[in-house]
Amino acid sequence: MNSFEAVKITDRVWWVGAIDWAIRNFHGYLTSRGTTYNAYLVMADKVTLVDTVKRPFRDEMLARVASVVDPSKIDYVVSHHSEMDHSGSLPEVIEAARPEKVFASTNGVKALRDHFHLDREIVALKDGEKLSLGDAELTFLETKMLHWPDSMVSYLAGEKLVFSQDGFGMHLASTERFDDELDPSVLRQEAAKYYANILLPFSTLVTKLLARVAELGLDISTIAPDHGPVWRKDVAGIIGRWKKWAAQEPTMKAAVVYDSMWQSTALMARAIAGGLAAGGASAKLLPLSASHRSDVATEVLDAGALLVGSPTMNNQMFPTVADCLTYLKGLKPKHLVGAAFGSYGWSGEAAGKVAEELAAMKVELAAEPLKVRYVPDEAALAKCAELGLSVAEKLKEKCAASGG
Ligand code: FEO
Repeated sequence: MNSFEAVKITDRVWWVGAIDWAIRNFHGYLTSRGTTYNAYLVMADKVTLVDTVKRPFRDEMLARVASVVDPSKIDYVVSHHSEMDHSGSLPEVIEAARPEKVFASTNGVKALRDHFHLDREIVALKDGEKLSLGDAELTFLETKMLHWPDSMVSYLAGEKLVFSQDGFGMHLASTERFDDELDPSVLRQEAAKYYANILLPFSTLVTKLLARVAELGLDISTIAPDHGPVWRKDVAGIIGRWKKWAAQEPTMKAAVVYDSMWQSTALMARAIAGGLAAGGASAKLLPLSASHRSDVATEVLDAGALLVGSPTMNNQMFPTVADCLTYLKGLKPKHLVGAAFGSYGWSGEAAGKVAEELAAMKVELAAEPLKVRYVPDEAALAKCAELGLSVAEKLKEKCAASGG
């Protein structure tokens, strides 16, 4: 038996990807459960490899291809996305399989050239273009900036299958290949984390794409992404969750993110949580000593409020807080209410600097930055609770205005 067997996805589509059990840092994203790099083989008249895998996993992919067909029989290779977790093996696959044609989007052709300096032709596929595989046909949709300028997806009509590239993916290593073989709560958690950390900045484009797909009336029974399981049971569910995440409607949840030097800012955070709860909001406290920035982003995805606390150190905000704010700013969360707070000793700039960052992120500040000198006393803690309450009240107004 081959150590690396392909897995049949539909009548003529096979999963030939690779499983990365070890990865924990995916460009700054904590991939606690590893990931998969999915590639697919379409066994049509023109044998077609859809995407490849990260370079160190090339042999694993080629072994899986070989469990179905001799790699030299690959006629076409389609690259939906040039990021190297999917294209890293492309040059060596071209070398090993000598396919008749290699395809990418118009931007993909340029990106692949700039990555790999290939001296062979890559054929550009336009938005809406159909590619005949003989007895099957792929239709391509450009999905620019979802999440790179070159990204595209394709629809294999005969199998009612979408090759969704990074879309509807998640970082989850598993021997199981289908959504119905895995714990639904893990799938919800990892899909949300993936959306929050990769797709959130492009939510407006996600909304437009989902509307376009709905207009096209595509009959979809399988979604085959390039990371994580293939969706064959909960296709409507994952599309619905993406629609909801892209909308970012306000909710009565507040993420309270902070770090602390001597537990004073932590004490403020806990008092603020009390005020939030008294006002009917659900508070999720995220001490940065114990919360990775990518897990903070996941909590912010379905939150209506973001409150950030930092002690002042050398006239600055705490480095962990600066790291997290820089990361969150890039993800461009929308429709948030918020506030800044922090303990200080003698200069106390941090809370103000945090408030400036939140304002730059278009977070609607519910109050002036709340600063407490050294250790908060009862009166200071009461002010913290009031801050939480005022954020909760603002959230209520926003939720009512949005019909939530
Ligand atoms: Fe999984 Fe954007 O690469």
